[in-house]
Amino acid sequence: MAGAVTETLLSRAIAERRATRHYEPTPVDENDLRKILEAGLAAPSGYNLQPWRFVVVRDLEQRRRLREAAMGQSKVEEAPVVIVACGDPQGWRNGDLDEVLRMAAQHGPDGPAKHESVRRNVIRFLGGVPGNQGGIGPDLAVWVNRQVMVAFTTMMWMAEVLGYETAPMEGFWEDKVKAVLKIPDSVRVVALLAIGHGKQTDKPFAERFPMSRVVFAEEWGKSIRVAGDRQ
Ligand SMILES: Cc1cc2nc3c(=O)[nH]c(=O)nc-3n(C[C@H](O)[C@H](O)[C@H](O)COP(=O)(O)O)c2cc1C
Repeated sequence: MAGAVTETLLSRAIAERRATRHYEPTPVDENDLRKILEAGLAAPSGYNLQPWRFVVVRDLEQRRRLREAAMGQSKVEEAPVVIVACGDPQGWRNGDLDEVLRMAAQHGPDGPAKHESVRRNVIRFLGGVPGNQGGIGPDLAVWVNRQVMVAFTTMMWMAEVLGYETAPMEGFWEDKVKAVLKIPDSVRVVALLAIGHGKQTDKPFAERFPMSRVVFAEEWGKSIRVAGDRQ
């Protein structure tokens, strides 16, 4: 029931969400789209650097072009909204860090000395990739993926609790997506999110690995026991 005042409980949305293949042409309500975008922008990121960028694609012709870049996936054309989530590995060098520190100065309890120390830490952390310039930080492509997927997933859940269906996508040619959307070379395309009103009944739940296979206690490989375990 998209556009409804009542939001679904997150726990219910988690239980019921499916990656939805087919969509009705009915648009996503503008207020709902705003909520979805704002939810993503409220996500946490390392040092609050927010290296994410999003291109919201609603225009049908543009969705058709994007579909070609997304390996022909029909949901890109069918869904009324496709959010293309990107990451800018150099954004922190090109103004984002200054802006984050400016906002921190405006809202936070810390003084200028603390902000300058944060600046030094960020530059030390992100300024060199392992094996390159002796930096301590992560590979920046991995780093932007890590941050962008938090915001992306937050948008997905907000769309789901508002009553929409969604489909996350990694099936796209990055260079083609960049060409269609005029995304700069230095920016990475991380994932696509289709949002809309699902057309058919959801496909059946594909099951998930049991906890015993993928969750360990205290160290890798040691099985975990938690209350309510299925024996
Ligand atoms: C990061 C990510 C990328 C995905 N890429 C695609 C995709 O390109 N095309 C597609 O049809 N499904 C894609 N999926 C959907 C998965 O296939 C789907 O989530 C999985 O099979 C489990 O099904 P369910 O989400 O319906 O429970 C992707 C899911 C994630 C999380």
